[in-house]
Amino acid sequence: DRNARPDAVVHKSNLRVREYPMEAIDVKKTLGSGEFGDVILVKVNDDDSVPFNAAAKKVKDNASREDVRALKRELELMKQLPRHDNVVELLGSSTYNGNPIILVEYLSLGDLYNYLVRKRKNYIQKSDMTISKEFAKFGWQIARGMEHISLNKFLHRDLAARNVLLSANKVCKISDFGLSRDVGPKEMYSTKSPGRLPIRCMSPEALFHNIYTTKNDVWAYGILLWEILTFGATPYPRLTTVHDVRNHVKSGRLMDKPEHCDEDIYNVMQECWKQNAEERPTFSKLVSKMEVILQRDT
Ligand code: ADE
Repeated sequence: DRNARPDAVVHKSNLRVREYPMEAIDVKKTLGSGEFGDVILVKVNDDDSVPFNAAAKKVKDNASREDVRALKRELELMKQLPRHDNVVELLGSSTYNGNPIILVEYLSLGDLYNYLVRKRKNYIQKSDMTISKEFAKFGWQIARGMEHISLNKFLHRDLAARNVLLSANKVCKISDFGLSRDVGPKEMYSTKSPGRLPIRCMSPEALFHNIYTTKNDVWAYGILLWEILTFGATPYPRLTTVHDVRNHVKSGRLMDKPEHCDEDIYNVMQECWKQNAEERPTFSKLVSKMEVILQRDT
């Protein structure tokens, strides 16, 4: 059975993650500053280990108790997810003024969205073939990370190019579990309070019925492929309001094939955007599909 992937087997989880004292953490520079928190490059100098770089995720100084709780929950979720090459690795935690700090591996090429925008600017010098190969590889790596996440009964809920990070050797790693929850046996999460949601990545059932299953992540994966193939364009580029995007998705229309996208990759996107969630592929299936596309080009 080619869908039985050895690395999908659940291995020992990270349940015990080291808590470092603040004195062991040297601040280097700010990597990103968002609405809910900041990400800072730090060096951890601990007596028991070789000094290492990490990205430290913390709440803002004026954070609400809700923000603090969300970051604590994110840490607890990350502890429960076993390691995988295509998921950002948890390195430890710390506490500052009673607030949690999450230490994850530092990925020097930053997020995929900004990588794609940089790429757009000098892509004319490269051949289409090189680009499509690299992009197909990204798609394959992201599918592998999401396969791991889904097999462990996690939802991401905010899968998008800005939440994928790139290592120095250009390996995609899925990041930002702020919105993820352990779906448990029923494999479904429903919410009455959608809050601040990434509407351009959302499936019809998430947009209109607040229903979240792994099939919503699959829909978002299709949108992410579209982001990659457009060098980081905004999904539904001609629609400027939330209202317009909602109506577009409701009508059942899909996005067109991006200019530099081949038919096979567009077919994968279309499968992810099936109205009926059950008809969308699993992430394991998506890994196989992307593998076929990668092999086709060699
Ligand atoms: N930006 C946000 N998280 C990051 C990380 N882990 N590495 C590098 N840049 C980041």
